[in-house]
Amino acid sequence: MQHKNIVILGTGGTIAGKAASASDNIGYTAAQVGVTQLVAAIPALAAAGHLLVEQVAQIDSKDMTFAVWAHLAERVHYFLARDDVQGVVITHGTDTLEETAYFLQTVLDPAKPVVLTCAMRPATSLVPDGPQNVMDALAVAGHAGARGVTAVCAGVVHSALDVQKVHSYQLDAFSSGDAGPVAYVEEGALRVLRDWPLGQQKRGLHAIELVALLVEAAAGGTWPRVEIVMNYAGASGAVVDALCHAGVQGLVVAATGNGTLHHDLEAALLRAQSQSVSIVRATRCVNGRVLSKPGEALADSRGLSPVKARIALMLRLMLSGSQA
Ligand code: SIN
Repeated sequence: MQHKNIVILGTGGTIAGKAASASDNIGYTAAQVGVTQLVAAIPALAAAGHLLVEQVAQIDSKDMTFAVWAHLAERVHYFLARDDVQGVVITHGTDTLEETAYFLQTVLDPAKPVVLTCAMRPATSLVPDGPQNVMDALAVAGHAGARGVTAVCAGVVHSALDVQKVHSYQLDAFSSGDAGPVAYVEEGALRVLRDWPLGQQKRGLHAIELVALLVEAAAGGTWPRVEIVMNYAGASGAVVDALCHAGVQGLVVAATGNGTLHHDLEAALLRAQSQSVSIVRATRCVNGRVLSKPGEALADSRGLSPVKARIALMLRLMLSGSQA
């Protein structure tokens, strides 16, 4: 049987990290090993004839930029449009993986699978977790019925909407929170636990037009400025006021509990909103979502975490600007 190609795009991360000693799992430098070398080091893949491999970036994902996101979206879109491509796997750092996953899902809403994977230990580790994660990601990308953007780590498949890094060290570092994972990967086979997540796009632009807009905005430095502020004991409005003064276009507030805000912070956010700064209220709780009550003055994030709500708001502002 003729296999379609699976594309592996490298962006860096711990999965491509190097330490001076094989017993050092934390004192490494991320993004050192090329994706071609990573793939070549996995014996089961070395001989596989249906892999296309490309280095899109080589960064520690804490340093993710809009330019890398725009370039990545462009490459993923290019490969998915090819008839000979079954799906795309992206090797990525764990630290902002959930943001890239949500970004790609929102921009591309792909009918084919796009699977982000990663590692918590560097490639030089005595027992690295990256190779198995790549194998699992390929199993997901090759699975009939898989679609949209997912993340695979430690044998667990998470949807882009739900995935969140919840552990700073353990190999199984991600959670899907209340929603639960989409599937488990067991020896190359998927045990699917729930319906494959569908896109929820309602936008006027096709993916190709949106990607072009993102590339242009990244090159021109015109991505809307959206920052995240947090509610906490003793919070004030000072940060919000300073950000408004600096020209911020949108603010996501990581509120306490069910969207609650210190009255001083809330007053500053309402002031900002009255000056045309877009405000979205998310919760800083790891699980659950803000359940809005009638008459709330600040919009809620519709279940998105603060970092994903920020991406949604940036894209919304960018689209409203482009259509103005
Ligand atoms: C990164 O996010 O690039 C470094 C940390 C990791 O991949 O675990």
